[in-house]
Amino acid sequence: MNKRHNRLMAEDFMPLLGWDHVELWVGNAKQAAYFYEHAMGFTRTAYAGPETGVRDRASYVLEQGEVRFVVTSALREEHEITKHHARHGDGVRDIALTVPDATQAYREAVSRGARSVMEPRRDEDEHGTVERAAIATYGDTIHTFVNRADYGGPFLPGYVSLSENGHPQAFRPGAGGFADGASSLAQGVGLTNIDHIVGNVELGRMDHWVEFYERVFGMTNILHFGDEQIQTEYSALMSKVMSDGQGKIKFPINEPAEGKRKSQIEEYVEFWGGAGAQHIALASTDIVGTVEALKERGLLFLDTPDSYYDEAQDRVGEITEDYAVLQEHKILVDRDEDGYLLQIFTKTAQDRPTVFFEVIERHGATTFGEGNFKALFEAIEREQALRGNL
Ligand code: FE2
Repeated sequence: MNKRHNRLMAEDFMPLLGWDHVELWVGNAKQAAYFYEHAMGFTRTAYAGPETGVRDRASYVLEQGEVRFVVTSALREEHEITKHHARHGDGVRDIALTVPDATQAYREAVSRGARSVMEPRRDEDEHGTVERAAIATYGDTIHTFVNRADYGGPFLPGYVSLSENGHPQAFRPGAGGFADGASSLAQGVGLTNIDHIVGNVELGRMDHWVEFYERVFGMTNILHFGDEQIQTEYSALMSKVMSDGQGKIKFPINEPAEGKRKSQIEEYVEFWGGAGAQHIALASTDIVGTVEALKERGLLFLDTPDSYYDEAQDRVGEITEDYAVLQEHKILVDRDEDGYLLQIFTKTAQDRPTVFFEVIERHGATTFGEGNFKALFEAIEREQALRGNL
């Protein structure tokens, strides 16, 4: 092993193959699954619960493109999921990452100071073996490392497939009371993959978590914005973006900054009850088509003032899309030195002003729409004011 190889090994102590899944712990997984399926175009592909031998919870796996969400709720009061839900409401529990070796990833992470949540384990069924382990990150959020190289089943052992070609259709209507499944809705809305997942942390804690992702994951800070740049009349925040070496996994971390009124990050932290995942950005290669389809399904997006579009063209310049169409759908546009991007944000996905989604279409741009932050924040603050929290 030569010196160069050693150095490469040392740099890549935590190889990440991609996003595995995001698990949301919710109050009513049956209804949450219906939302992701009907409002956001996901297909339910697998299920685990009492009917499959899991006694304490129900989990629905929802997929679209490469995006995989799992919504889970507990069935009894004395359960960690019930307590998590009482504290946080519906939201992200687990940002799970696919790795080539979950035991190794776990050992590297714990040896660098990460807190263990689940020691390495292997689960097996007729489809093969999945190796998993988990560590804690900000708030009550965790990262599960998943090695599914030797697994061909629907999701994990314990889950039954709900796909047409998979397993017995025992969970179709009439055999357990599920709402009708994938078939008529399986077209999706064109969401292809997770682009990034943003964490909101408490005042003064951003650098702690930046350092955590540097130390535990070997990530680097690829971008940062001070409160000078991201400031509206009322609200301010600071943000740093952490990325793995391959640029597949991107974790922007926000913290509130002093503004005239309450920062939206502070509002999140107050209503979530600590640090947690703020938004999941989902990529599309046709954002206009995706947003049209989502709106048709009833998903609500943040509004953007028409005045935003007065200066957008001057700021961003020539793009393939028609500015009038972007304005019609209130899609935001931004440019960096590598290209441009289009993005739009949904309203929060639950009554607490916590988790929401972003749809993003990248045309070369590698940043996150910083030029839009002010326009976005002003839009968010109008919502915040309506809730009486500004
Ligand atoms: Fe984002």
